[in-house]
Amino acid sequence: MTKTIDMMQALTRIMESNRVCCWFIFFLFGENKATSKELLRPWPARGTPPARPPPPPQTMATNHHFKRPHQPLSSSSTSYFYIFVSIIALTALFLVFFSHYTTSYSKPPMRLQSIKPIKQYVNDDNGAESAACDYSEGKWFYDPTVRPPRYDETCKEIYKGWNCVAGNRSGAAEIVKWRWQPNHCALPPFDPLRFLESHRDISIGFVGDSLNRNMFVSLFCSLRRVTGEIKKWRPAGADRGFTFLKYNFTIAYHRTNLLARYGRWSANAKGGVLESLGYKEGYRVDVDVPEGTWAEAPSFHNILIYNTGHWWWAPSKFDPVKSPMLFHEKGQPLVPPLSPETGLDVVLRRMISYVEEKARPGTVLFFRTQSPRHFEGGDWDQGGSCAHLQPLSPEEVEQLFSVENNGTNVEVRLVNEHLYEAVKGSAFRLLDVTRMSEFRADAHPSTAGGKKHVDCMHWCLPGITDTWNDLFIAHLSSIKVRN
Ligand SMILES: *[C@@H]1O[C@H](CO)[C@@H](O)[C@H](O)[C@H]1NC(C)=O
Ligand SMILES: *[C@@H]1O[C@H](CO)[C@@H](O)[C@H](O)[C@H]1NC(C)=O
Ligand SMILES: *[C@@H]1O[C@H](CO)[C@@H](O)[C@H](O)[C@H]1NC(C)=O
Repeated sequence: MTKTIDMMQALTRIMESNRVCCWFIFFLFGENKATSKELLRPWPARGTPPARPPPPPQTMATNHHFKRPHQPLSSSSTSYFYIFVSIIALTALFLVFFSHYTTSYSKPPMRLQSIKPIKQYVNDDNGAESAACDYSEGKWFYDPTVRPPRYDETCKEIYKGWNCVAGNRSGAAEIVKWRWQPNHCALPPFDPLRFLESHRDISIGFVGDSLNRNMFVSLFCSLRRVTGEIKKWRPAGADRGFTFLKYNFTIAYHRTNLLARYGRWSANAKGGVLESLGYKEGYRVDVDVPEGTWAEAPSFHNILIYNTGHWWWAPSKFDPVKSPMLFHEKGQPLVPPLSPETGLDVVLRRMISYVEEKARPGTVLFFRTQSPRHFEGGDWDQGGSCAHLQPLSPEEVEQLFSVENNGTNVEVRLVNEHLYEAVKGSAFRLLDVTRMSEFRADAHPSTAGGKKHVDCMHWCLPGITDTWNDLFIAHLSSIKVRN
């Protein structure tokens, strides 16, 4: 049975790439009753293509075209002729198809195989059960059933470069038709109204780099859609923030790349320990000083969600030779100088302790795991691209991200290793978005951003950070948040 389905899918594929087969199928099985004259006409017709049959529509991906019974024919002679032509055509088709099938199927498994109807969600009212579930293990299912979108490209807060529908990224509308189904639990889309009702007088702070802003915008747009009155309100240091007045509910984004404070450093004429080691230019990173944009955030948000990572593996900014990170503690350079990896460990530990001390009792703390990039054929500044139109297969994911392969995007799993260590035993919960996102090479803006470089790092909105928020809110619903 699976074999048959595979064959049908392969056939569909070939038909998409081979118009001749499509035309034949339409001649033989098409809905419009072809007369024998039409069947006899040499094909393809010279000059303009025939008005009938129509070119195969995109819905060829579903198989029902082939299941229609033939129309009985009126005259027996045409009928014999018809059968004869059919047999010849089908034989030819079968041979073409089979040679194609056997030659092209040593390639990675065909993506269409992953298109299965979505499973029914299991009942998720039991908070304890959902807290125990590992949401990060699962599969993306193609689910094209029309649902009202949680928001669309008209949401004003979407940064232009991430607005893939408005930016005409090919396949942008398909991105949200894939649904993440964890292996052992349900992850339904969160209900914005119910969420607002249950989070009155609460404020949520997103603290981190542009990937956390991407997630913040997704949550904002989802909530904006269901409630009228909002006020732009920026808590101290925040880059942007909004209060949903009816609910006195606030979300804000605090921009910080490294969490720790940093700035340009250059050698002092009077000399010093770094100068004596030959350093001339770089960035001073104070491992024990939180960046001002968020330093106060733990004292006024009820829920905080942190991230850092992309900037730690950014040699174009923190070039190890021309502009290295120079770590400082208590205002003094750390010698011998730390590598960025060691610096990351120190900063994570320090910042986690800082937040734990600064936060009011009952504050809910999350650390989001690293968001994967999907540059292939080079890094972002070396012509790398991500022209996928469907999620990757598990094999492709391993190829791209396994630490052993040390590929362009290897930092995602490396950063997570540091993160897991730092969060262990702390008050932070991990929000693991990495695994589900690794599959989604199709969900980046790619060339739609209109920038000089292709964007395979941020995510299209609407897009998969919507699912991150589903996950975030599923976790929240199993925790009692008090103000
Ligand atoms: C997207 O396509 C529409 C219609 O073809 C066009 O009007 C619009 O300018 C395009 N947008 C971009 C960013 O290319
Ligand atoms: C609104 O919520 C904030 C916390 O986010 C709280 O401090 C404040 O008292 C609330 N205001 C009202 C009018 O309830
Ligand atoms: C990984 O690759 C980078 C260059 O792409 C190289 O500089 C680095 O040494 C490699 N690391 C390991 C552990 O092989």
